[in-house]
Amino acid sequence: MEKREMLYEGKAKRVYATDRSDQLLVSYKDDATAFNGLKKGQIAGKGAINNRMTNFLMKKLEQQGIPTHLVEEVSDTDTLVKRVTIVPLEVIVRNIAAGSLSKRLGLPEGTPMGHTVLEYCYKDDALGDPMVNEYHIAAMGWASEEEMRLIADYALRINDFLRSYLKDLGVDLIDFKLEFGRLMDGTIVLADEISPDTCRFWDSKTGEKLDKDRFRRDLGGVEDAYREMMKRLMGA
Ligand code: TMP
Repeated sequence: MEKREMLYEGKAKRVYATDRSDQLLVSYKDDATAFNGLKKGQIAGKGAINNRMTNFLMKKLEQQGIPTHLVEEVSDTDTLVKRVTIVPLEVIVRNIAAGSLSKRLGLPEGTPMGHTVLEYCYKDDALGDPMVNEYHIAAMGWASEEEMRLIADYALRINDFLRSYLKDLGVDLIDFKLEFGRLMDGTIVLADEISPDTCRFWDSKTGEKLDKDRFRRDLGGVEDAYREMMKRLMGA
């Protein structure tokens, strides 16, 4: 595989073309942002942790029958993935109230909810990723109703698997964000990443935050939290 020109630079990753027309190279950065890019910083070692953790979890999900964009990890920070067009939605899965849901509904963080909640945000930085519902999604043509049924089904299955897998490692999965893409033939696959940047992980015993909220909220111990999650999942 040969790395070619950079196609896109996001806040946490760069995407490169390769000599294979249907595969791209994703390169994870140590850069961190929050609040739609307003807060900027670096988390040493984050690129490698997020890359390796994402691939580890996507492999597990593939074994559970969830299709993903993963092809193969090529280095600590770089991974070959299938080329997709991203469905322009952030799919948020919530088990326990936290973050923007706590603010919006006035629920203290940590409040259990009757059941899992799915939310969708339209991916548009200029608009600040506004929350939308299935009616907006269908009306704007961002995804078909059939695609949304599949995406919701995958998101809930991913949640069931990750929640119990992490529970055994002493971690509560509070909420997380997923992105899906379409392969050339239209198949929906899980894309993007699953990492402390995109999930809320709380230590089951102490409630300690082991995710990017430590950066967002200036709690300190950011690198240690990422390393701790890596250690619990992959032992190193
Ligand atoms: P929120 O409570 O701020 O809406 O975040 C919900 C989940 O989504 C949380 O686990 C963090 C993740 N997330 C992202 O991955 N990217 C984002 O841009 C935002 C705002 C949240």
